[in-house]
Amino acid sequence: MTKPPANPAPLRPDSLRVGLTYDLRKDWLAMGYGEEETAEFDSEATPDGLERVLTGLGFHVERIGHIRNLTRALADGKSWDFVFNICEGMHGLGREAQVPGLLDAYNIPYVFSDPLTLCITLDKGIAKTIVRERGVPTADFAVLRDAVEARNVPLPFPLFVKPVAEGSGKGVSARSRVTNHAELEAEAARLIAKFHQPVLVETFLSGREFTVGIVGEGANACALGVMEVHFGEKAAAFGYGYENKQDWEGKISYTIADDGEARVAADVALKAWAALRCRDGGRIDIRSDHLGQPHFIEVNPLAGLHPDYSDLVFLARDIGMTYPELITRIVKAFLARHPALQARAGLP
Ligand SMILES: Nc1ncnc2c1ncn2[C@@H]1O[C@H](COP(=O)(O)OP(=O)(O)OP(=O)(O)O)[C@@H](O)[C@H]1O
Ligand SMILES: [Mg+2]
Repeated sequence: MTKPPANPAPLRPDSLRVGLTYDLRKDWLAMGYGEEETAEFDSEATPDGLERVLTGLGFHVERIGHIRNLTRALADGKSWDFVFNICEGMHGLGREAQVPGLLDAYNIPYVFSDPLTLCITLDKGIAKTIVRERGVPTADFAVLRDAVEARNVPLPFPLFVKPVAEGSGKGVSARSRVTNHAELEAEAARLIAKFHQPVLVETFLSGREFTVGIVGEGANACALGVMEVHFGEKAAAFGYGYENKQDWEGKISYTIADDGEARVAADVALKAWAALRCRDGGRIDIRSDHLGQPHFIEVNPLAGLHPDYSDLVFLARDIGMTYPELITRIVKAFLARHPALQARAGLP
């Protein structure tokens, strides 16, 4: 567990007031939503960890929680110098953009990407179209709105099929790798019925898998490191799917990779990060083809920040960076966009 800072900086009267927006799984379960619908949401440990770090930086932290709490607080006239936002949202293709959109409406700055980026990146097909336009390698693909369209997909098998706009490995399983049109149509039908959205079909990438941690934005973004994902014998599926992600110990292991292929993966990730205008911090998932060429799979502009269990936090730990150091890097990347706040924050 992340310990509270031994000597949190004393609060000054002019300390920045920071709101913390997040989706607690237990809050949404209490509202009647199901286990899988809430799979991306956080346990108390994440806002606890973030609050400890932000308080340790000398900020006055106020926990807000989900968007419905935020709307009430805004309607009551509350405001903050900035908001540290990790809300994933519940409904619609704009769900990750809803909190940043509201904050924009009230002219309140926030950490992480803006609504445009968060809408584009939630739809993996649109994100792939944009990065491909910028010359970033990404597997050939098609988006199917109806399973019968599977019959006309012109791509060579094996293919990989998954919901076009989900995260946390939802809808990814051993059935995702398909070897003929009948299997593709059956899995597409199952996923469209279950997730009520189109499916993305793409060339199956049979090479190594990496996740690249990034901080900053645009030309100033930098790759913290490249973590290779290894699938153990107990890994239930081809790929880093929901079953593996829910119970990863013994199935998945990670190592920091720094060979030539990993460096190309970092370069691919940084180009995709800039093309999608991602900000402050996050992760890009990369997988190589059979020739060892890394391809962009998807970006996580709101990467998990659980102090003990999130991929970006594992990556940071494995390169020797503590949780408070990681969060501080992200906050500094945000402050670099807001000189007046940066001056008041007084961080070294
Ligand atoms: N084209 C592909 N070829 C082979 N494996 C793939 C392909 N696309 C995805 N995968 C596998 O499926 C996993 C999940 O895919 P993806 O990263 O798109 O889903 P996600 O649910 O958004 O993930 P996250 O939990 O990172 O949000 C990948 O980590 C990879 O192991
Ligand atoms: Mg992923």
